[in-house]
Amino acid sequence: MMKSLIAIVGFGLLVAAAHQDVALKDLMPKGMVIGVAINQRQFEGTDSAAVDLITKQFNQISPENVLKFQPTQPAADRYTFDAADKYVQFGVDRHMQVVGHTLVWHSQTGAWVFEGADGKPADRDTLLLRMRDHIRTVVGRYKGKIHGWDVVNEAIDEDGSMRKSPWQVGIGDDYIAKAFEFAHDADPDAELYYNDFNLEKPAKRAGVIKLVQDLKARKLRIDGIGNQAHWRLDTPTIDEIDRTVVELHGTGLKVMYTELDINLLPNTPRGADPSVANPYANGLPDEIQQQLARRYADVFGVFLKHRDAVTRVTFWGLSDADSWLNRGRMNFPLLWDRQRQPKPAFNAVVDVLRNRK
Ligand code: XIL
Repeated sequence: MMKSLIAIVGFGLLVAAAHQDVALKDLMPKGMVIGVAINQRQFEGTDSAAVDLITKQFNQISPENVLKFQPTQPAADRYTFDAADKYVQFGVDRHMQVVGHTLVWHSQTGAWVFEGADGKPADRDTLLLRMRDHIRTVVGRYKGKIHGWDVVNEAIDEDGSMRKSPWQVGIGDDYIAKAFEFAHDADPDAELYYNDFNLEKPAKRAGVIKLVQDLKARKLRIDGIGNQAHWRLDTPTIDEIDRTVVELHGTGLKVMYTELDINLLPNTPRGADPSVANPYANGLPDEIQQQLARRYADVFGVFLKHRDAVTRVTFWGLSDADSWLNRGRMNFPLLWDRQRQPKPAFNAVVDVLRNRK
């Protein structure tokens, strides 16, 4: 009795130890890379525990912030590449697939970009010149080093229409085609992507599919659709995720999960009672921890089922401590905890990857 108990405990420890040692990148199917969005402390090396984990686990990186418009071009006549250069070098040194995020977006873009003379909004020609200069300069700088670019981010509204972003308002709907044209001119070998969230919602997905079909009809290069995959425990459903990848891949493009995380916190209004808004301030109950593990197992099940379509899975942050989803609360959306220990969700993903048929 005692002996078998020891054997069982011993086996359990062995399995746990084996999980500790295993690297996600070694378990992914051929043709599907696995990555993580990294921050400044990571690519500059000050967070050395994180650097070790990233180096061991992943073969692709995305820049959480440093390659956005505002940090790379804070003013019309000023580009700042110190941080971005370090980000790119981090990946090159480790032979990782380095992704660029993002060239044209309504957010994290300086107000100056959209301003014309005498405080009026910039006109179409001015905006196109600024867009071309930015894309040429940034994409050109990393030619041959950045594998693929999120050329345009979040351009479609929830109802499937064009988002009225300052780019769209100032240039017109063809601003997206122009962005892809400029990016391709700047690096003809780079892959080019359209990236957005809530693609499991049918109306929005239809809008995105229409957009990429229009780009293809214009004979522009576009290689993939990025599905951000900022998801929750119960939504979208596995069926919806499944249907979405099939439809997106139906365009003939690759599908990538570019910003994966599972938000465990409720969507509460500002000023809501902390016990409601921040329910896990003192730690995550084991039951929710297990639900998160099952959720990750299920979504990786879909990724594997569609391995013909899916070429990349990228987590939006390394550990729970790094996640953008905390914002003053305690969230637990990723595979590693605040001490950088693997969570049950990590083991669940490893099991799914190991048992793939
Ligand atoms: C987020 C970063 O994680 C935060 O650090 C930053 O404050 C805001 O942007 N969709 C995107 C990402 O395409 O660029 C966003 O990243 C998250 C939502």
